Formats: sequence, C-alpha cells, structure tokens
Amino acid sequence: MTSSPLPYRIGYGEDAHRLAPGLPLILGGVPIAQAEHGAVAHSDGDAVLHAVADALLSGLALGDIGQYYPDTDPAHAGISSREILAHALALVREWRYAPANVALVVTLDRPKLGPLRAEIARSVAALLRLPDTEVGVSFKTSEGLAPAHVQVRVTVLLVRTAP
Ligand code: C5P
Ligand code: MG
Repeated sequence: MTSSPLPYRIGYGEDAHRLAPGLPLILGGVPIAQAEHGAVAHSDGDAVLHAVADALLSGLALGDIGQYYPDTDPAHAGISSREILAHALALVREWRYAPANVALVVTLDRPKLGPLRAEIARSVAALLRLPDTEVGVSFKTSEGLAPAHVQVRVTVLLVRTAP
C-alpha cells in the first residue's frame, strides 16, 4: 500500500477447504482430534490461520497470501500456516500497525467445535500476540448444504502503532 492517514483499518479474510477422510483437520493451530475428515490442501490446510493472514493483508491493502505463497510453486508445498501468518503479521508491523481484535466464524457441519472455542481463541491470540479476550470465535453449521467443506471468515481491526 501507500502510506495511510488512518489510525484504524479494517481487514477481512476468508478461506475454504474441501474435506476428505484420512486427513488431519487443524483450525487456528489446534488439531481437531474428533474430525472424521480433514482439509485437502497444498499446505497444512489450516483455514482459520489462512483467513486471519488474508484479513491482516487486506486491512492494509497488501494483497492476499496467494501472492506471497502461490500454490503453483512446489517450494511452498506443505508450508506451515503459522509461518504464513507470521509473515503477514511482520508485514503489518513493518507498516506500523498491529491487530487489536479479531472476529472469526468457522462454518463446519461436524464435529461440534464449541468445546474447543477457548482453545482456538487462545491459540490464535498467541500467534497474534493478543490477549485471548480479543479473539472472538463463532461456529456455524452449513445446515447440511456443505458437509465436506470448511469455511472461515475473519475480520480484524488494525491500529496504527506510530504516526
Ligand atoms: O449453525 P447453527 O446455528 O446450527 O449452530 C448452532 C450451534 O452449534 C451454535 O451455537 C454453534 O456454536 C454450534 N456449532 C458447533 N460446532 C460446529 C457448528 C456449530 O459447536 N461445527
Ligand atoms: Mg487455505
């Protein structure tokens, strides 16, 4: 981006993955042991961390993670979503902003994720160096419309850290 006069900026990100049996499901850095199927992905398929990274980049008009980690490049096969998120966070800091709070919604039919809400919030907060209370985590089913699918939507508020 070019320099911005705004003290606050809003970012929005999404990610989706197809689910298939025999693969791990990881959401926000938390392995979902109860999952019967996991993400079909070029990377570890953590749709939460991918969507958070895209939200950070979008807030500063820095494009999206596919530009930094094209899935056509074999060098990025199996890349850790934590690494992708760390890169996005580093760019945000270079532009002298920091995330202040995050709201994320995971749409997944099964398993029930409610019992993991605090763990996912804690994990995402730690990666963003935020208090747990600044990460809101919501879950929705697709009402059976997309049983083999995980979808994540994320908003983030970025606050300027220096004039
Ligand atoms: O999407 P729906 O309105 O049917 O979700 C009902 C409840 O189920 C919500 O409270 C939501 O937090 C929870 N839920 C869950 N795990 C999911 C999907 C929904 O705990 N995978
Ligand atoms: Mg993804």
